[in-house]
Amino acid sequence: MTTKIGIIGSGNVGSAIQRGLTKAGFESRVSTEDNVSQIADGADVIVLAVPYLAIDDVVKKLGSTINGKIVIDATNALTQTMQLALGHTTSGAEELQKKIPKAKVVKAFNTVFAQHMDSGTLNGQTLTAFAASDDEAARNKVLQILRSMGFDAVHAGPLQNARYLEALGYLNIQLGYVLGNGAMTGFKYVR
Ligand SMILES: NC(=O)c1ccc[n+]([C@@H]2O[C@H](COP(=O)([O-])OP(=O)(O)OC[C@H]3O[C@@H](n4cnc5c(N)ncnc54)[C@H](OP(=O)(O)O)[C@@H]3O)[C@@H](O)[C@H]2O)c1
Repeated sequence: MTTKIGIIGSGNVGSAIQRGLTKAGFESRVSTEDNVSQIADGADVIVLAVPYLAIDDVVKKLGSTINGKIVIDATNALTQTMQLALGHTTSGAEELQKKIPKAKVVKAFNTVFAQHMDSGTLNGQTLTAFAASDDEAARNKVLQILRSMGFDAVHAGPLQNARYLEALGYLNIQLGYVLGNGAMTGFKYVR
């Protein structure tokens, strides 16, 4: 049976992930602001591709539709002034897991610019995408999804490591947009 993926948010990230998933043969639907729970209800895996500051509202809209399901947190935990909102002692993903304890949160996608999320590649090179979660089966499922989309998928351990993935996502933004390297850039973990 095909995995049905519900993407919350239809912006840069949500639309790119949907293109990548479609190419990889997954069935996916993207939400508007008004049909969040409907999209999550019909899905096996849910991707949160909304601004970090909208998370509480989105969690409210999701309600119990995510219970028992994998929730991929693609957000970067940024304040309104684009500073890292949390870090070192917790992360957006860990705080999200506390808000939705019946879901299996996996941190992924946040270290990649949206421009490359539909292919997992840049200039002919495969980009790395990390997945961190406390649920091994959920992490493995997301690693498989990332691989199908074209990424070099890397097991990044427990959800606590989202602290470092969110910092890496922030570094990506600094390198790309503050230090002028642009978005045609990305990380590759050589091993
Ligand atoms: N852009 C990147 O390269 C990149 C890379 C890695 C991670 N991220 C992270 O991914 C997330 C999405 O980024 P983005 O660039 O795709 O942002 P975006 O283009 O602004 O898209 C955000 C989406 O979230 C929806 N949304 C906002 N508030 C909502 C709410 N309360 N309920 C339901 N939907 C809501 C928006 O709907 P409306 O348009 O109707 O407001 C829009 O579809 C952010 O957390 C960002 O930090 C971004």
